[in-house]
Amino acid sequence: MARSDVDVKKLLAQMTLEEKVGQLVQLNAMFLGESSAEITGPLEKLGIPQSYMSKLGSTLNFHGAQEMMDIQRKHLEEDRNHIPLMFMMDVIHGFRTIFPIPLGLGASFDPETVKECSRMAAREASAGGVQVTFTPMVDYVRDARWGRVMESCGEDPYLNSVMGAAQVEAFQGDDLADHDNIAACVKHFAAYGGAEAGRDYNTVEISERLLREYYLPAYKACIDAGVKMLMPSFNSLNGVPSIANKWLMNKVLKDEWGFDGVIISDYNAIGELKKHGITDDMRLGAKMAFDCGCDIEMMSSSYYKHLADLVNDGEISEQKLDEAVLRVLELKKELGLFEDPYHGASPEKENSVCLTPEHRDIARRAAEASAVLLKNDGILPLSEDIKRIALVGPFAATNEIKGSWSCNGENEDCVSVYEGIRSLLPNAEIIVAEGCSAKYDELSEEGIDAAVAAAKGADAVVLCLGEPQKYSGEGNSRADIGLPGIQMQLARKVIAANPNAVALTFSGRPLVLTELDKLVPAILHMWFPGTEGGSAAADLLFGRANPSGKVPMSFPKAVGQCPIYYNHPSTGRPKSKPDEIHQPYSSNYIGCGNLPLYPFGHGLSYSSFVYESLELDTDTMTKDSEITVSITVLNDSDRAGKEVVQLYMHDIWASAVRPIQSLIAFEKTELGAHERKTITFKVREPMLRFYDLDCNHISEPGEFTLSTGCADHLVLTKSFTLK
Ligand code: GLC
Repeated sequence: MARSDVDVKKLLAQMTLEEKVGQLVQLNAMFLGESSAEITGPLEKLGIPQSYMSKLGSTLNFHGAQEMMDIQRKHLEEDRNHIPLMFMMDVIHGFRTIFPIPLGLGASFDPETVKECSRMAAREASAGGVQVTFTPMVDYVRDARWGRVMESCGEDPYLNSVMGAAQVEAFQGDDLADHDNIAACVKHFAAYGGAEAGRDYNTVEISERLLREYYLPAYKACIDAGVKMLMPSFNSLNGVPSIANKWLMNKVLKDEWGFDGVIISDYNAIGELKKHGITDDMRLGAKMAFDCGCDIEMMSSSYYKHLADLVNDGEISEQKLDEAVLRVLELKKELGLFEDPYHGASPEKENSVCLTPEHRDIARRAAEASAVLLKNDGILPLSEDIKRIALVGPFAATNEIKGSWSCNGENEDCVSVYEGIRSLLPNAEIIVAEGCSAKYDELSEEGIDAAVAAAKGADAVVLCLGEPQKYSGEGNSRADIGLPGIQMQLARKVIAANPNAVALTFSGRPLVLTELDKLVPAILHMWFPGTEGGSAAADLLFGRANPSGKVPMSFPKAVGQCPIYYNHPSTGRPKSKPDEIHQPYSSNYIGCGNLPLYPFGHGLSYSSFVYESLELDTDTMTKDSEITVSITVLNDSDRAGKEVVQLYMHDIWASAVRPIQSLIAFEKTELGAHERKTITFKVREPMLRFYDLDCNHISEPGEFTLSTGCADHLVLTKSFTLK
């Protein structure tokens, strides 16, 4: 696409103050037509007349290319300046072809998989009328009770950073005017994932040091990757909601990081300054948000009602307003909307691009790469020669496995576990018995007998268990993160009838699977795998695909351990054996070990990877030198497979407590049968830095260790000294 030559400054000069403000107002598409748009928040009375709609700058959540074109065409006729609307949507893990939830993408530990999926999502979304996606969400998370952990890539700042940047690059490409690219929006700035008690929208109180060390890096990585838009978070951060938080929005985002993209509020976040108790004066609210850099107000009306007056009264300079409007116009220009207000979208293109066999293949491979084999006593993979298989549990035949935030994806598009196994094993006898509900408040035992009967005569049983997809996502936190309802009761009875059983689990978060782990010889976790989830599950269960995912967020043994994460400091009374039940005067629980059931970086394979050596080319580093780390891995099996080789660092002595381990590099690599491979990493001084007590980002001379394996189960360690 030719670069637009529209002169946006000239365009700005001909706009009235009211028209300028209009560019900074975003309403759901339902206000612009007969949209069946999803409402992604509470509907407040906005008091914006229909006559104002021709002045809007952007809209969100509409349904498909035709609707977008109808709205855009009408808008261009009515807008005096013929400025195209920008169309935005939450394309979080797919537009129509849905791939695993981002927590599952995190588990893939494969940026290439993430890029391939995001490229596909951009193609489909753009054809479907989307020009900006509210993705990536890179909120750092430690508490699996929070429903939006499903949108994050987990508990490691480095993994979150790598995956966030990969999404930005893949969505945006090199030229936004290219019809296969759309603009990305990093969110939710900042530390939304730190909500107290894992309860959504709850208060966040975090030291600046912790913020900078864990919560901020991934946003910065997305900004460094060139993300065009940023969305502040709902939560109050250390006393002030992000949207009005000068320290966060001005000092960090603008002054320190130099972010110069468009900033859009989250849904009614400015209006919620009232509920936070900051102000009930929305004129003041508008000023606070604008002074914190918020360009576009989403789904509240303080800008519509007060911004022009604030300018006329001199409380906001018209120059600042112009700068905000120019950022919006420049983004529209970059998207080529002045030349093609539809950005290449059309119903025909949408139908031809979405849900193609190629896209389904991408989704299936991503689901395979994201699944984590949590436990396997050898029963998996199952034999394809199996004659009779029982699929038991609420996830045996349901197609509700696409997860929350799945945009235009349909449950009906999804391949269920039953359908996946049916097409893989056309001659096997498959008995399906739901057995019970997956809901916490549906406790009927009526289906258990039939499930037990189905299991009794089967060669193998697959227990298909999990939490409903509506139990994660926005506003969906849980105080108990076990298998809801009577699923464990079902599992115990089925296992008693036939111990030759494996568990296949589905969730939007790490679940407490402690009881299940004691009961079954194997657990394959699928997250919410998306449109091809059942196909991927079948391929993995029967060995057509080899599991390679790793835990991106610790699976607690008990919800009482939350927040639980691998990169924690030692404390002054660490336990000598972290998983022993109780040691006097140690940091521990009565009746429960400190370690998670499945730690960060854990994940089994049908191959057998042996870590033979970890070597350093020197044991001394200076600020200007580097260390080459060589890790040799042997695939001591007859099966090719992929392994995520992880490199962890520990800064042993420092002026502030340091985590016992920090992931500083990883590489997912394929090893053929009996293949030996050496993976090398370069370690340099910036990788050793931390935020000291004055929040200076520094490294300190001293002793460090480098290890591989996975958190809590490091297998090889070497020391070096930073001079
Ligand atoms: C929601 C979410 C945000 C989303 C926005 C638009 O409330 O917090 O992640 O992008 O509204 O749907």
